[in-house]
Amino acid sequence: MKEVLLELERRRAAAREGGGQRRVDAQHAKGKLTARERIEAFLDEDTFEEFDMFVEHRSTDFGMEKTRISGDGVVTGWGTVNGRTVFVFAKDFTVFGGSLSEAHAEKVVKVQEMALKNRAPVIGFYDAGGARIQEGVAALGGYAEIFQRNVLASGVIPQISVIMGPCAGGDVYSPAMTDFIFMVRDTSYMFVTGPDVVKTVTNETVTAEELGGASVHTVKSSIADGAYDNDVEALLQMRRLIDFLPTSNTGDLPEVECFQSVSEPDHSLDRLVPDNANKPYDIRELIMKTCDEADFFEIQASFAKNIVTGFGRVEGRTVGFVANQPMVLAGVLDSDASRKAARFVRFCDCFNIPIVTYVDVPGFLPGTAQEYGGLIKHGAKLLFAYAEATVPKITLITRKAFGGAYDVMASKHLRGDINYAWPSAQIAVMGAKGAVEIIFRKDIDDPDKIADHTKRYEDRFLSPFVAAERGYVDEVIMPHSTRPRIARALRMLRNKDLQNPWKKHDNIPL
Ligand code: HXC
Repeated sequence: MKEVLLELERRRAAAREGGGQRRVDAQHAKGKLTARERIEAFLDEDTFEEFDMFVEHRSTDFGMEKTRISGDGVVTGWGTVNGRTVFVFAKDFTVFGGSLSEAHAEKVVKVQEMALKNRAPVIGFYDAGGARIQEGVAALGGYAEIFQRNVLASGVIPQISVIMGPCAGGDVYSPAMTDFIFMVRDTSYMFVTGPDVVKTVTNETVTAEELGGASVHTVKSSIADGAYDNDVEALLQMRRLIDFLPTSNTGDLPEVECFQSVSEPDHSLDRLVPDNANKPYDIRELIMKTCDEADFFEIQASFAKNIVTGFGRVEGRTVGFVANQPMVLAGVLDSDASRKAARFVRFCDCFNIPIVTYVDVPGFLPGTAQEYGGLIKHGAKLLFAYAEATVPKITLITRKAFGGAYDVMASKHLRGDINYAWPSAQIAVMGAKGAVEIIFRKDIDDPDKIADHTKRYEDRFLSPFVAAERGYVDEVIMPHSTRPRIARALRMLRNKDLQNPWKKHDNIPL
């Protein structure tokens, strides 16, 4: 008996070595953790249960039969994060560059299916070069099996991808179908094909960072939702994110202890909106002052900064915040902001996370660049996302809500449950100057008349009361009472039951 026990220990130790000490050292020298170290750092201590430690590839081409390594380049299993079950897989770059064989794919598929069956999130740590070249179509087929399961799990369980090394091919396409992608600065890259192939095909010389570093994907392409300075920080932030998310679309919202009163007024908010309507202020301040303990997990903080999206909690329960940001482009809605917010709204709606929307928007951004870039379709995405969402929707107009953007930003007409406005709200088709120049064009050369028209327009329209008279705004509230009012509204809406008509799926403008 002792011998078989020792044999198990020997086999386990061999599997834990991965691609060998030399490659592990190389991994550490680049500032990266190994696959197992990542899982250990991510999960609660001693909760990791591994699957398929002894799986090996079955390839015999190109001498592959001589290089079989237990685990075959991916570590899989489950554990807990602050006591809640999560499924994990971590690509092991020390084994064939983390590349995917048929057997490796089967391991990932097993975890995906376990996660779906047990309604728990799945988190992938990526550090891998895509399909294992020596396996050809068997590897390609393996990826397609994974993609298929990504799609079936979408909207049922949260799927999160963390890019922690150079990733190509299937190791960027599978993440692209998950809910969130995070990267590690300076050590992680995402591209369909790497710099060498780019050079061969297009004769373009480009570094890995220029082609697919965190600076590209968090700022330009918007493929990544955030980036961190090193592996440990990324893993700790992923634990924080998991704490905000329900385990599935049928799971309850997580509830954590709330240490901040929800009845206390915050009088500093009475001074947040400047007297001059053209002066910016930071909408994040309002979000922070609404969230419990100012704990806000921002999504896509470096992309389309004219809109802010992210998770916070009110009375210990998760809320998705969407807010125009007057500090950037006056908070205007453009294509990027619309796409960013639409995807976030849809995530919240999938997972029953109530949405709080703060509105200060001068309209959609005019111009050829936007129109040629498909503003109509991108703006429609946000409109569509808000209109189809059945989760509790609370909207607060702090200042401008002009034109189509008024409609889009979770207005009453899109089934907003509670629509508040501050006294500083201005709800109209457009600002006074533009409006007067159009409707009183004949008086354009008479400054006195224009001033008079402008004053009348401002008095009549640039307030919340025209909308409140019609019930489009449920109540005009004091800024200092925002957190208490939102907390009460969220409590009232906990049992909201609203269903859209049956359909196979909708046809959101893509
Ligand atoms: C087999 C691979 C591999 C792969 C890397 N390796 N990628 N082995 N198949 N796809 C091996 C290397 O041979 C090397 O082995 C080790 O992993 C480390 O690789 P390096 O190149 O030394 O590392 P680095 O310089 O950091 O470059 C990493 C890389 C590069 C950028 C990922 O290796 C690369 O470009 N690989 C190929 C990427 C690719 O084109 N994959 C196919 C995509 S197609 P040793 O023994 O030296 O340690 C695909 C289809 C899916 O995925 C379908 C999508 C829709």
